[in-house]
Amino acid sequence: MVSDTNKRVSTDVDVSLGDRSYRIAISAGVLQDSGEIIRAALGARVRRVALISNPVVYGHYGSIVEKSLRRAGLAPLRHLIGDGERAKSLRTAERAWAFLIANRFERSDGVVALGGGVVGDLAGFVAATYQRGVPYVQIPTTLLAQIDSSVGGKTAVNHALGKNLIGAFHQPRSVIIDPTVLQTLPARELRAGLYEAVKYGVIRDAGLAEKIDRNLAGIFTMDLDLLAGLIARCCEIKAEVVAIDEREAGLRRILNFGHTVGHALEAVTGYRRLKHGEAVGYGMKCASAVAEKAGIIPPVAAAVIRRSIDAVGRLPRIGDLQARQIIEAMAHDKKVSHGKLPLILPTRIGDVVVRDDIPAGLVRSAIRDLLTSKI
Ligand code: NAD
Ligand code: GLY
Repeated sequence: MVSDTNKRVSTDVDVSLGDRSYRIAISAGVLQDSGEIIRAALGARVRRVALISNPVVYGHYGSIVEKSLRRAGLAPLRHLIGDGERAKSLRTAERAWAFLIANRFERSDGVVALGGGVVGDLAGFVAATYQRGVPYVQIPTTLLAQIDSSVGGKTAVNHALGKNLIGAFHQPRSVIIDPTVLQTLPARELRAGLYEAVKYGVIRDAGLAEKIDRNLAGIFTMDLDLLAGLIARCCEIKAEVVAIDEREAGLRRILNFGHTVGHALEAVTGYRRLKHGEAVGYGMKCASAVAEKAGIIPPVAAAVIRRSIDAVGRLPRIGDLQARQIIEAMAHDKKVSHGKLPLILPTRIGDVVVRDDIPAGLVRSAIRDLLTSKI
């Protein structure tokens, strides 16, 4: 396991969940060996795997994975879904179920998700629900998916009334992360993932936040060792949290730092204008302002958090939105309990608290500051 941000990092991270434990294999070029890893993870009885991807990712990496699967004695059945957040829907899931049924897919077969968070969440949801659950492996290809969505077993599709409202917990059997695939990722997508990396620093590891700040140039020029180390540290933090609280009864809520306002921003902009990571970037800025206004974090530390987010890159404009719309959308958040919405607020860089007693006026004021670029 990785223990110190500044020391040499090992590249495999274990997620310890009893009989649902699995390994995250992280190394440049590991895609070539994905077949063997998948075979070992899914067990000797598996013969066929449904490779779920989208045309963009499949075009880049599909044949590498398929060749590797065949070398390992597995027959891949390809199923491509549409690109983008709108593909994360029940309609897409229905098509995937139909594909599995038409191919007489059995419980002893497996699913492989090759793509970003949209493909991973959708394929994971299909694997969780087809015949009450079949095993699956994640091969995440965006930075965001590599450090967050592929790990921890949250799978979901969106509903017209809100994001990720229909889903299941279903842990993958293995996660295979090849940082070289990030070389084809558009720069905006890389930045979107980096906001989530900053999130891990703020919630759990001040050294990580500082390391990201210091190494942005190396990250953007694809220093693969640097990227592998960064991905491993983020995965390690996520694995630690998930191992303690798999079903989000307590600690896991800290991973939602920035997501309450972030999800609301995605919803009011129709999931089109903002990337998920960008919405989380805004959400973290807003949460730092709420914490500052509530006296939970010193203003200097709150300003450092906002600077770290700004340093990753300019976020798309949202000045035309109304605070009222965002607050309304927050009311649909699935984390609302007994009418109260818990907020994850930083107390310093490296630690957060969960609070559901923050006055609404204070949250509204922070959202206004965000919309008017005061923060
Ligand atoms: P995405 O899956 O839409 O991928 C972004 C874009 O990059 C897509 O156009 C995709 O085709 C393209 N792409 C992917 N890999 C590529 C590569 N290597 N080279 C070139 N292009 C590539 O977006 P995302 O940011 O990866 O995921 C966002 C989704 O993840 C959201 O739906 C969000 O809710 C979900 N999410 C889930 C969890 C979880 O715990 N399950 C956590 C965080 C986010
Ligand atoms: N991305 C939040 C979680 O996995 O819990």
